[in-house]
Amino acid sequence: MISIAELITARQNEQFELHQRYINPKLGRALQIIGFDKRWARGEGAYLWDEHGERYLDLLAGYSVYNLGRGHPTVKRVIQEMLDLERPNLVKMDCPLLAGLLGEALVQRMPPGLEAVFFANSGAEAVETAVKFARAATRRRRVLYLDHAFHGLTLGALSLNGGKDFRDGFEPLMPGFEMLPMDDLAALERELRKGGVACFIAEPIQGKGVYFPSGDYFPEAQRLCRKYGALFICDEVQVGMGRSGRFLACEHWNLEPDIVTLAKSLGGGYIPVSATICRRDIHEKTFSSLKRCQVHSTTFGQNELAMAAGLATLHVLDEEKLVERAAQTGQKLLDGLNALKARHEMIAEVRGKGLIIGVEFKPFGSLALKAAWATAEAAEKGMFAQLVVMALLRDYHILTQVGGPGVNIIKLLPPLIIGDEEVAQILSAFDAVLSEAANLRGRVWGMSAELVKHALAR
Ligand SMILES: Cc1ncc(COP(=O)(O)O)c(C=O)c1O
Repeated sequence: MISIAELITARQNEQFELHQRYINPKLGRALQIIGFDKRWARGEGAYLWDEHGERYLDLLAGYSVYNLGRGHPTVKRVIQEMLDLERPNLVKMDCPLLAGLLGEALVQRMPPGLEAVFFANSGAEAVETAVKFARAATRRRRVLYLDHAFHGLTLGALSLNGGKDFRDGFEPLMPGFEMLPMDDLAALERELRKGGVACFIAEPIQGKGVYFPSGDYFPEAQRLCRKYGALFICDEVQVGMGRSGRFLACEHWNLEPDIVTLAKSLGGGYIPVSATICRRDIHEKTFSSLKRCQVHSTTFGQNELAMAAGLATLHVLDEEKLVERAAQTGQKLLDGLNALKARHEMIAEVRGKGLIIGVEFKPFGSLALKAAWATAEAAEKGMFAQLVVMALLRDYHILTQVGGPGVNIIKLLPPLIIGDEEVAQILSAFDAVLSEAANLRGRVWGMSAELVKHALAR
């Protein structure tokens, strides 16, 4: 009989070797270089514990999978209840109840007019679904997206990626997918006017770099899309589900997109699930006849375990008022980080909404410090941010990430359940690490020689 617990106990020391042999040796090596090669033993709420019982604050949150924190008891109980119910799952030639219930619950939380839901497993699938629906509904081919955009890494979603690093080596990508600069309405209108645009897709707050447009760019972009008959898609895979302090981040601009995508924390941190929610007429033009009623589908799409996890997640978001909490806690964190900006010259900007926050750095200090920055940057772009990430983990047990390839931005993506204690912990750790970074002989720069060596070796 197989026991996973016994298997873990017997072989837990082999995890990096196994990855070296069977999974991705390069990733294992990269984690080792930056000190992220920990053996995680336990996770609960906003915290992780390593094999030595040391506690760490997790500001990665599984890249926004753990909006409710890890191991939320309600979601766990509902999944256990589902297993015990032994419902006939994935009959396929069926209209399962729980998919209908989760569809209803999502539509109730959408801007007006969005009332048809398609379920899949990942964010990339939700995005590709949205683009396919837009093409079917408009009978047009062109797709517009923004610089720095990230919508997933499958071939269609990668064709919407606004960063060279991810695209390199995989081209040619989809023809007719065209990138636009953010905040440039004239460029958008120019492309729309040329005709043939099925849709314009944007993350209301971009995951890579935590950029969002100023003023009324989004409302105007939406108006222009309507004017030229293109659909407006908001990709809420990362910032939806309450992260930005609203259920959907597009609510910050009172947008009424034609299609919305959700994924990540919709499954409560347990089960992969994504949703593409659109207007009924868009859906009808896609599934346009009885013969085409399954023209777009995916095997695990309405998996009842995922649907139950989604229902439980929405229930917890409401019951614990996590959307409001994200808004309040996020504001405290933003205010605190902005106060640090006044004291630490290297902070160029703090930006974000709710609990998606980017802290951008710039060269600073004495000539010697500026030279050290330039050397580090020449070896690997974004190296200063990486040094800060490493120091936050090593000295303050806080997990963060560099906010995208080659940028000096740290991104904070905490579970929405964090409170005053965690905010204080984050602020005092940033304060200490940035004070230390102002000293060239301190422990932060002490780690740079090793990183530069590895970067140059590549
Ligand atoms: C905005 C956005 N869209 C789509 C995706 C892709 O999601 P997945 O990794 O589940 O395919 C991501 C993933 O980070 C994302 O942030």
